[in-house]
Amino acid sequence: MSVELKIESARAALTLVKHGMRLGIGTGSTADEFIRLLAEEVKNGLEIIGVPTSIKTKNLCDELGVPLTTLEEMPELDLVIDGADEVDGQFQLIKGGGGALLREKIVAHASKAMAVIADESKLVETLGAYPLPIEVNKFGLTATYNGISTVASNLGLSGEIALRGGEVSPFETDGGHLILDASFGHILDASALSKELLNVPGVVEHGLFLGYAKVVFLASPDGVKQLGEL
Ligand code: A5P
Repeated sequence: MSVELKIESARAALTLVKHGMRLGIGTGSTADEFIRLLAEEVKNGLEIIGVPTSIKTKNLCDELGVPLTTLEEMPELDLVIDGADEVDGQFQLIKGGGGALLREKIVAHASKAMAVIADESKLVETLGAYPLPIEVNKFGLTATYNGISTVASNLGLSGEIALRGGEVSPFETDGGHLILDASFGHILDASALSKELLNVPGVVEHGLFLGYAKVVFLASPDGVKQLGEL
């Protein structure tokens, strides 16, 4: 996805941001472009208050002068604007490629609506070509891994489940957890997988975002397509 497409998608989403909004601010390279454009608007007088979905996003907002608060201070938000790794026709998403899925989902849940910024390559018929990130507690990693494998095979899914970053220096999330990237291939029943994964005690959260996105902005060289509305 070219930077230009990320910028165009982010610019389109900016039209949803209104004066006085309590705004969840996503994580990732597309969200970074959104933050840059938002910062310009703030400089021009737009008044919003943002809640970042990661430390990385918080740092960029601080650097560019986007006013922030915490979800603790402001537990209800009007809108969250965030990227995605995959989106299907029902606006189901895979997220977490950048490792921020837990905070992203907490913020999405606290928001009245979610808008997704992406390019057309992220639109898929069936989720799952992109490995599903699953955030897990460090304690009992092997038991949790086995629990996830069992859940998957009960649902007819299989494929490699890889510890992000590898055994020697695994990637650690903002919450101090690990990520298992599950290459299950086509996920035909995302809702069943979601429910079953959350039944495995060591699973903290997973990257299936179901029922959150209301609007999706998909950028292509021909322009930005808006699917859905607020
Ligand atoms: C961050 O954890 C992710 O959910 C991102 O939102 C997602 O990976 C999209 O990132 P890009 O905009 O960098 O493709």
